Amino acid sequence: MRFLAMIGLLGILGGIGAAVVFFGGFYSISAIPDDPPIVAWALTHVRNASIDRHAVETPTVSLTDTAVIAAGAKAFAQRGCVSCHGGPGAEWAKFSEGLRPDPPDLKDLADALQPREIFWVVKNGINMTGMPSFGRIGVDDKEIWTIAAFVKQLPKVTDEQFKTWSTAP
Ligand code: HEC
Repeated sequence: MRFLAMIGLLGILGGIGAAVVFFGGFYSISAIPDDPPIVAWALTHVRNASIDRHAVETPTVSLTDTAVIAAGAKAFAQRGCVSCHGGPGAEWAKFSEGLRPDPPDLKDLADALQPREIFWVVKNGINMTGMPSFGRIGVDDKEIWTIAAFVKQLPKVTDEQFKTWSTAP
């Protein structure tokens, strides 16, 4: 009995301690220091598991059709993805290096990501990171699928192709 009371007391003290640290302003939300490794590890695993469980939609367009990929390249350029992630022959904006977590270079991830995952992330965004939800601002599913098709091809897209596709009328 006494043991259980002890656990209860520790729980309450822990709760009060956490409230003081967080609501008292002691916890720093600065993006300058790197996350402690355990926090970075936990955030990455929570993110990947969440995306995997939620990303269940299937493509409504052919992801290997060149016209679809070209449309996706154009949307990728026009919607501002390049500012944060860069693109073939296109540098990301300097400010994106100040984001925590920093936006990954998508061509390095394209092979590991499935189209349904890319679609889900672009549509929903990743809460409390710099990754915006494009569904929230009304970008329709079809356009998002074209973007997913393009991102999947990123390792193979040349600088010239990206330039031609993204500046097409
Ligand atoms: C304002 C900056 C910003 C813009 C604009 C932006 N992103 Fe992101 N994006 C991020 C950040 C930051 C992350 C990393 C989030 C994380 O690590 O949890 C990310 C993550 C991603 C991922 C997930 C990679 C993974 O590990 O699963 C994909 C895919 C992606 N972005 C695609 C896009 C596409 C496509 C666009 C344009 C339609 C776009 N992003 C626009 C900042 C941005």
